[in-house]
Amino acid sequence: MKRILSGIQPSGQLHIGNYFGMMETMIANMETSDLYVFIVDLHALTTVHDREKLRRGTLEAAADFLALGLDPDRCTFWVQSDVPEVCELMWILSTLTPMGLLERCHSYKDKVAKGIAPSHGLFTYPVLMAADILLYQSEIVPVGKDQKQHLEVARDIAIKFNNSYGETFVVPEPAISATMATVPGLDGQKMSKSYGNTIPIFLDDKPLRKKVMAIQTDATPVEEPKDPDTCNLFALLKLFAQEDKLAEVRELYINGGAAYGYIKQDLFELIRDYYADARQKKKELLADQDYLRQILRQGADKAREKATATLELVRDRVGLTY
Ligand code: ADP
Ligand code: TRP
Repeated sequence: MKRILSGIQPSGQLHIGNYFGMMETMIANMETSDLYVFIVDLHALTTVHDREKLRRGTLEAAADFLALGLDPDRCTFWVQSDVPEVCELMWILSTLTPMGLLERCHSYKDKVAKGIAPSHGLFTYPVLMAADILLYQSEIVPVGKDQKQHLEVARDIAIKFNNSYGETFVVPEPAISATMATVPGLDGQKMSKSYGNTIPIFLDDKPLRKKVMAIQTDATPVEEPKDPDTCNLFALLKLFAQEDKLAEVRELYINGGAAYGYIKQDLFELIRDYYADARQKKKELLADQDYLRQILRQGADKAREKATATLELVRDRVGLTY
């Protein structure tokens, strides 16, 4: 069984991009892989400096995964900071990481351009991510396209370490689903918390409908033909609608007659129904936070066994043993 690992930051409401870019793949892999899923609160600290927000976000993220069907008995599911070994590995890896490798990272440059303070933590974010991946000897890492470069950094670091100290780390492969690579947001850019263009999946009906109605479309009159393949609304519809429904709407785009308002109403109903059971489950989970904490602590114990074994090997390889 392949070891598959991925993490999500507890830094905001879970949205459709997160779901199709990463979570759905992870949950679908539960039966056939040795699955590692974690909530990366140490990474979130690079942008969230509000104690209550981080605490709440961590529990919410745990509830999100469990509500959407992650079974903690069939995977290893934990909170990053509960396994502090990752910080030691990060330090060791950072001593091998060329500055230039990090200076080239788009994600860092984008965040700084958006006004996030360029802290040392933000700059070394990819090294912590590499430590996450290598500590558990992960073989496959499913992420959205935006994380591809970070995966390359992790691979480079693993290869460099193996070359310097002898075979130690599995060199991880990214898994990026072509169709789900980038889910567009309300404005057609990549859906992202930091662009404020998301459709959170656990909104109540009224705010959810409001979001869907806010999807930007062009001003082509209803009766004129439109290109479904460049339309943001159609791209979102594709994620939720059945084949026959999609074929019907595609016809309307091509031959004229596609009214955006009606399509948005359909999309709203589809999203609402798609996540109805999970929405209810999430409410129940959040009402029992001790249960959530217990699941996460058990997961951390499991993760820590693997982490300790890798770190022991690494310490020996680099000479932190005497
Ligand atoms: P955000 O960009 O909203 O801050 P995160 O960086 O927390 O999202 O991403 C969590 C996971 O979801 C990552 O694997 C990321 O690649 C994936 N993801 C986020 N946004 C999208 C998107 N619009 N399309 C596809 N995958 C996405
Ligand atoms: N950087 C990832 C994101 O923002 C989150 C992350 C941290 C991650 N560590 C990871 C993803 C390890 C995969 C594997 O989405």
